[in-house]
Amino acid sequence: MSKKVNKEKEEKYFLQTYNRLEQEIEYGKGVWLYSKSGEIYLDMFAGLAVNILGYNNPAVSEAITEQLKKYNHLSNYFLQDTQIAFAENILRLSGYDKLFLTSSGTESIEAAIKLVRKYANPLGKNEIISFKGGFHGRTYGALSLTYKEKYRTGYEPLMPGVIFLTHNNEKELTEAVNENTAAVFLEFIQGEGGLSTVSESYINKLAELKRKYNFLIVADCIQCGAGRTGKFLSIQHYNITPDICVVAKGIGGGLPLGVVLIKNDLKDIIKTGEHGTTFGGNPVSCAAGIAVMKELENGVMENADNMGKLLKTELEKLQEKYPEIIKDIRGIGLMLGVEVEDEFAKTLMQKFAEKNIFVNITNNNVLRIIPPLIISKENIDYFITAFRSILESYKL
Ligand SMILES: Cc1ncc(COP(=O)(O)O)c(C=O)c1O
Repeated sequence: MSKKVNKEKEEKYFLQTYNRLEQEIEYGKGVWLYSKSGEIYLDMFAGLAVNILGYNNPAVSEAITEQLKKYNHLSNYFLQDTQIAFAENILRLSGYDKLFLTSSGTESIEAAIKLVRKYANPLGKNEIISFKGGFHGRTYGALSLTYKEKYRTGYEPLMPGVIFLTHNNEKELTEAVNENTAAVFLEFIQGEGGLSTVSESYINKLAELKRKYNFLIVADCIQCGAGRTGKFLSIQHYNITPDICVVAKGIGGGLPLGVVLIKNDLKDIIKTGEHGTTFGGNPVSCAAGIAVMKELENGVMENADNMGKLLKTELEKLQEKYPEIIKDIRGIGLMLGVEVEDEFAKTLMQKFAEKNIFVNITNNNVLRIIPPLIISKENIDYFITAFRSILESYKL
């Protein structure tokens, strides 16, 4: 079907919630996307941090095929080998004790909010702290913890009792928490929020206040987990294990899967029948997830660490040369943000697309770099060469 017809049909059939790209994709392989018109693009945002092993990873495809031969769904009334194998792997890699499986990031955040309520209600604590720039999903609980006005406006009333703080402002945090604080939800590296990254000192202060006030810490590792920062979870770069950690996006190898990781202290908070989901822990998604974790351990996570460092160094060289355009570089591993001059940001996506590279801009002026974790040195050279040429031809 022609692009024009597809566009007309999309407009006719779909709620217009997405601003779709003009390129139509035929298939993907590794870090590359092949368009219907014969162009080849380097994908530097990987399905918004989902395609961590790139496209068409053979190990993931084989795991999915093998599981499909057995069953593609069983209700959660049944014990399921694939779910159990998935659980063993992710608990080992994360260091957590127990889990609850879902089908998405936002559904996992909802489960975490329910855990928090069950823990905090008997203690009379009902305030939840979240962060400016934070994004936790679009369902009501998750939306209530999400900061951006555009996502919230018109949907009120949202969940009450949520306070938004600023990343790394220890004074503000100290003043905000008290006996009434039930939980603090945070992304250690904000995806939507311009890649703001929490400092070690801020996390130490948070841990100190938790000891005093007994609230829960919930880490949203939906985007910054699954090996993206060179460690399995971004929180593993810090000296803390949050009470709850949520993982989704890349962990299902491109299939819907979310994980709520819990420490043993909270294991009896929710009892049989008090929470559940039909599709959570789908066996095909779990099979793909097992293959993903195996690949991560077999060098992909190490590659994310090495390539992340290389990419940051190369970006810093560009910043040195163009300080008036590149304002800041932040993030860890292959979750990097490049804050650029506002006008430059407006046309940056288009300029990269003209050089056959897909990038994503977040927070209006931050180039969000979240490529597949299998990216190579040659791919990084390709990206940096294109970026340099865009910078060279830009007139302030
Ligand atoms: C940090 C973070 N939390 C939550 C979500 C929501 O996840 P999902 O879109 O799978 O519901 C996202 C999605 O972008 C995210 O980046």
